[in-house]
Amino acid sequence: MKRFVARARCTLAIAFLAVAGVSGCATTDAATAAAASVATNEAATPEQRIHAGKTLYSARCQTCHALPEPRSLTPEAWPTEVRNMSRKSGLSIAQAEMIVDYLVGASRDARAHL
Ligand code: HEC
Repeated sequence: MKRFVARARCTLAIAFLAVAGVSGCATTDAATAAAASVATNEAATPEQRIHAGKTLYSARCQTCHALPEPRSLTPEAWPTEVRNMSRKSGLSIAQAEMIVDYLVGASRDARAHL
């Protein structure tokens, strides 16, 4: 009986580690950190900034609520909304600007196809 309990505990621990590993936190964190650092990279192209903005948006804008659809706001409305939300998210102004660049473009594209 004792041995069974020990084995069950071990299985639980392995299952926990497997879940933690499979969720890929390390990779996601690295991608988010890389995206965040684009904000201060003066050599970054507009495409790199938009791509980094998209990564930051999905990493940082769904910790409190579901990720809003880019088309849920007009291109004109996003800058103010992101500025308000970036205070809650602890994003730098430069990082928030990249998210704005992504959302304004994505909203415009999505709404063009409505
Ligand atoms: C710390 C929690 C938190 C984070 C992080 C956060 N939000 Fe929010 N968000 C809220 C809360 C609370 C509300 C609803 C009340 C409000 O507007 O303050 C909200 C509302 C919204 C709305 C809905 C506004 C409306 O009129 O329906 C949008 C869009 C939004 N957030 C976008 C974002 C974006 C983009 C980011 C990332 C830059 C973000 N949020 C990050 C807490 C957060």
